[in-house]
Amino acid sequence: MFDGEVTLERFRDMPPEYQEAVHNILTIHTVSELYGAEVFYRWIPLAPRPVDKWRMSQILREEYGHHLRFARLQTAMGVDVARLEKDPLTLFTTYEADNWADAAMFLATLDRAARLQFEDFTRASFLPLRDVATPTLKEEIGHAEFGRLSVAALCRERTTREQAQRALEKWFPMAVAFYGRSGSPKSERYLRWGIKRRTNDEMRRDYLSEYGAIVDGWGLTLPPLPDLDRYVEHAG
Ligand SMILES: [Fe+2]
Ligand SMILES: [Fe+2]
Repeated sequence: MFDGEVTLERFRDMPPEYQEAVHNILTIHTVSELYGAEVFYRWIPLAPRPVDKWRMSQILREEYGHHLRFARLQTAMGVDVARLEKDPLTLFTTYEADNWADAAMFLATLDRAARLQFEDFTRASFLPLRDVATPTLKEEIGHAEFGRLSVAALCRERTTREQAQRALEKWFPMAVAFYGRSGSPKSERYLRWGIKRRTNDEMRRDYLSEYGAIVDGWGLTLPPLPDLDRYVEHAG
């Protein structure tokens, strides 16, 4: 495995395979952070109290910030980011929330899944990725924690507790599939070049061990693990 450290200046001296893998990771995040922000934009009205709307607005601002961090880096690397933004990202078209439990569960479940990836990126061989990932990781930890506490509050009342259980069943399979399969050519390449540090299965295992304890804390029932083949399309 490659254990060097690559600066922005040295990037072009790296083999094409490395350059392509880095570009690929950066593009996924430039695009998905923007779409994520646009999803949250629609969910602010679902937040029940002013304090929840305030926190959701702050999260929204941070998600646009994540997009901008990745976009600035890609621009510095000569990528035409405006063109990337126009690409359709079908993955996000189904991200709708019916109620606050749904939105809060998304934060608790999928922002937590994203967080584990950022943990690896803070140790990536490409140093500018570490710089982008470090503040982003801190914010994603905050989003997932706000989601966890909001869901905990909802679980104290029967009606909203049932909504939370339904939301868990909706988002959990996506979180499990989020990491993709281990052993895919793409994921092998990320590991070989030190862009990611854990295999997809290792990340999923780490996710499931902490998430299982959180679901127990809510007093909700974790659904069975989904069939990955049905869900893994984009992840790799
Ligand atoms: Fe984000
Ligand atoms: Fe987030």
